[in-house]
Amino acid sequence: MEQLWTALDGHRDRLEGTRILDLFANPERAVKFSTEVDGLLFDYSKTGIDAAAMDALLALADAAGVAQARDAMVSGVKINTTEDRAVLHTALRRRDGVVTVDGRDVMPGLRETYDRMSAFAEAVRDGRFRVPGGTVTDVVNIGIGGSDLGPAMAALALSPYADGPRVHFVSNVDGAQIAETLRGLDPATTLVIVASKTFTTIETMTNADTARRWMAAQVDDPAAQFVALSSAQERAAEFGIPAERVFGFEDWVGGRYSVWGPIGLALMLAIGPADFRAFLDGGAAMDRHFETAPFDRNLPVLLALVGIWHHQVCGHATRAVLPYDQRLARLPAYLQQLEMESNGKRVTRDGKALTRTAGPVVWGEPGTNGQHAFYQLIHQGRQIVPCEFLVAARGHEPDLDHQHVLLLSNCLAQAEALMRGRTLEEAKAKLAGTGLTGEALDAAAMHRVFPGNRPSTLLLYRELTPFVLGQIVALYEHRVFVEGVILGINSFDQWGVELGKELAKAMQPLIEGTTGTADKDGSTAALVARVRSLRGA
Ligand code: F6P
Repeated sequence: MEQLWTALDGHRDRLEGTRILDLFANPERAVKFSTEVDGLLFDYSKTGIDAAAMDALLALADAAGVAQARDAMVSGVKINTTEDRAVLHTALRRRDGVVTVDGRDVMPGLRETYDRMSAFAEAVRDGRFRVPGGTVTDVVNIGIGGSDLGPAMAALALSPYADGPRVHFVSNVDGAQIAETLRGLDPATTLVIVASKTFTTIETMTNADTARRWMAAQVDDPAAQFVALSSAQERAAEFGIPAERVFGFEDWVGGRYSVWGPIGLALMLAIGPADFRAFLDGGAAMDRHFETAPFDRNLPVLLALVGIWHHQVCGHATRAVLPYDQRLARLPAYLQQLEMESNGKRVTRDGKALTRTAGPVVWGEPGTNGQHAFYQLIHQGRQIVPCEFLVAARGHEPDLDHQHVLLLSNCLAQAEALMRGRTLEEAKAKLAGTGLTGEALDAAAMHRVFPGNRPSTLLLYRELTPFVLGQIVALYEHRVFVEGVILGINSFDQWGVELGKELAKAMQPLIEGTTGTADKDGSTAALVARVRSLRGA
């Protein structure tokens, strides 16, 4: 592998001085450096990757054993070695087939849970599920991380399909969020979903207690309006939620990969089982493509290789996800967990120090809002931020198509501007007629120079349907997987979140003043004292 990395570094150095725009001297570049599957187009022609670089990246993927690792994952091998678990979110979106874990076919169990979810969702949506106030008008999903971001992101993305109860999401332990959410809701017509794989997460359990107290003040049997989504069915029972309203899943569904199963219940309640199934079908279609397409036309592999080129080879520290699709506003946050919790690692699968940084910082905002905020840095800052644009050819608002044309124009123009830039000569020409000359003209022009040659990719789709959203989410999941395999890391554990959790637990009695700060560093001890004094303790 090391030789292949070195070859890539060498090729990067040789490309120094070649501008992305020059690569379009090859008239076929736009076609050759883009791939389409089921109507989803991935265009990576506006990157500095040339044919030789792509060959070297593909060789890296082969040498890393991506195909073998992929086959191991989808067939139920325990590839999450630090937790001794299989990784089978792909099974959640399959309609049929056999998937075996520890010698047992898991598909019948998945189908049974899916059917129970659908039946429950139908009953809530058509009013057969009764609550004291009649039918359910509002659903509050209480969960955090993967038990929040997936359904929250998808419910917003698919809001044009929402014809069920209103869904709300509470994640933060900050009481402000649950207070704001419950204010204005009627406990007699609200259903609360407690979404937690482990059913121990402090934020979720605290918010669930708060919601139960809120409901108990108004209704006689609050437990009747609670649903649990969890792998820990006994803990859900201890909380008081009866088995018929517990939708379980197994430990081989990772939190950040769980929107496809019971954790997606809030989404299913909002859009209905048929559209939820279309979302799963989009994911399954991407799975089939990932499992069968040759790597040089395989979307997840190509997206991963573009990521590897930009971060591990070119050293760009971050990547921006820029959906020109307001309903994908939560996609960057969703991808932050998916990518950074999966690949933000410093050791290999067998615990050895990584030689290259894994996991770029992922961030972003919907366009065009970002243009009026941070695009200044993207265009003229010294650091290069590879940009991943997403846009639909059509919006869901036919009456507002003129606005969609503006949206599309902005998206394509930003990608063009990033690549093309503006030279000093062009900037000076722009200033013709201002009366500026000499040094003053040079200085003014310098501010108007755009270095250009900044890479971007585009995902283009006709319309953001449930199927397309499924394709996009599964695409990014597999991208993370391929990057992880190439880097030799376990993308499915998250030990890095544990230390903070432990220290927060120990901090609580310090803030309350029931224990002292003798074992704390000077800064922490001083801050605890200050917090206590500000709280009037
Ligand atoms: O703290 C990180 C994490 O474990 C995530 O991986 C997970 O998605 C989130 O917490 C919520 O966990 P749970 O669903 O068990 O409440």
